[in-house]
Amino acid sequence: MAKKIRVGILFGGKSAEHEISLLSAKNVVAALDPNKYKVVLVGIDKNGEWHLRDAEKFLLNAENPRLVKLNKSLANVALVPKDRGLPLVSLSGNPLNEPLDVVFPILHGTYGEDGTVQGLLKLINLPFVGAGVLGSAIAMDKDVMKRLLRDAKINTAKFLTFETPKIDFDAVVKKLGLPFFIKPANLGSSVGISKVKDRDQFQGAVDLALAYDRKILIEEFIEGKEIECSILGNEHPIVSLPGEVIPTRDEFYSYEAKYYENGVEFKFPADLDKKSVSKIQKMAVKAYKVLCCEGMARVDMFLKADGKVYVNEINTIPGFTSTSAFPKLWAASGVSYNEILDKLISCAIERHAKENSLKVNYESKN
Ligand SMILES: Nc1ncnc2c1ncn2[C@@H]1O[C@H](COP(=O)(O)OP(=O)(O)O)[C@@H](O)[C@H]1O
Ligand SMILES: [Mg+2]
Repeated sequence: MAKKIRVGILFGGKSAEHEISLLSAKNVVAALDPNKYKVVLVGIDKNGEWHLRDAEKFLLNAENPRLVKLNKSLANVALVPKDRGLPLVSLSGNPLNEPLDVVFPILHGTYGEDGTVQGLLKLINLPFVGAGVLGSAIAMDKDVMKRLLRDAKINTAKFLTFETPKIDFDAVVKKLGLPFFIKPANLGSSVGISKVKDRDQFQGAVDLALAYDRKILIEEFIEGKEIECSILGNEHPIVSLPGEVIPTRDEFYSYEAKYYENGVEFKFPADLDKKSVSKIQKMAVKAYKVLCCEGMARVDMFLKADGKVYVNEINTIPGFTSTSAFPKLWAASGVSYNEILDKLISCAIERHAKENSLKVNYESKN
């Protein structure tokens, strides 16, 4: 029998999306074929400490999204550069015999999805799932991301960027019209986002977004269907059928709508004609490439009544919970959970091999 691939799962994290990550990790661990993979779990607690976890019982209240938490931990560990496949060391000084072949970071938001963990994994020279340092960092910053989309002539909402609370409301309305959206540049899960309809709501929305980030975006309102596509692959990515997200609780897809029951209705796949499906899929793949993504991503778009497609954002580590769109879009497209994971792991190993085949020494022609 072929040797099992040892997959290190990095999950949890010091993030507002800690619980989402726990639920995603639970599904990924359950779906990894035990005949092919040996799972090594590294749970990061809310203080940012890394601990090995027992794969049999690493979660408490695993059935309840509001109460789920990490179970008692094993050794406190760190990842360090090692040549011979033993990158995981115990901080207590005890040697750990836990070689890793590939790491799967299932972490959302800052310190997980933004290039920081990817930088660490790259330094250690371990293959890892998902976008590299650049793609992760680009996708995390909505300002940088939208500049690149604009440069590639991909439709995206007109936007202005600010780093001050002193903003001229009338000047913004003149450029973007009303209503408009205000959002922190580097966040997710709709935290700190407001839809502003009049002058009275303006300053409060600016202050709220600035409480979460030094940089904020003000965006024109795009009226249309919210459409999402899942993507898998490196140079030649495959794309799922588009799905539609219909917020039913609030005026937009808010934090509450995302994580509390009955906040949203999904149509997987979306009810669209063939031409729109193909246009949306092409747009999603183009955005994926322009934004330097690899491995996987979920591309979120708007479809206007006139047929125009706008890219709203890209998520480089989408959720893997049982209600998450990424695996559901694949299921609707005939790709199983097992196949997604096989593909992600093979993409990680393939990219790593390519990067390691590059020359690191200059060879003079003379
Ligand atoms: N320009 C916009 N026009 C219309 N709706 C928007 C716009 N920007 C954001 N929204 C709404 O707000 C939600 C969250 O915004 P998004 O930019 O996706 O932030 P996050 O990264 O927090 O998910 C979107 O899913 C959508 O419902
Ligand atoms: Mg979003």
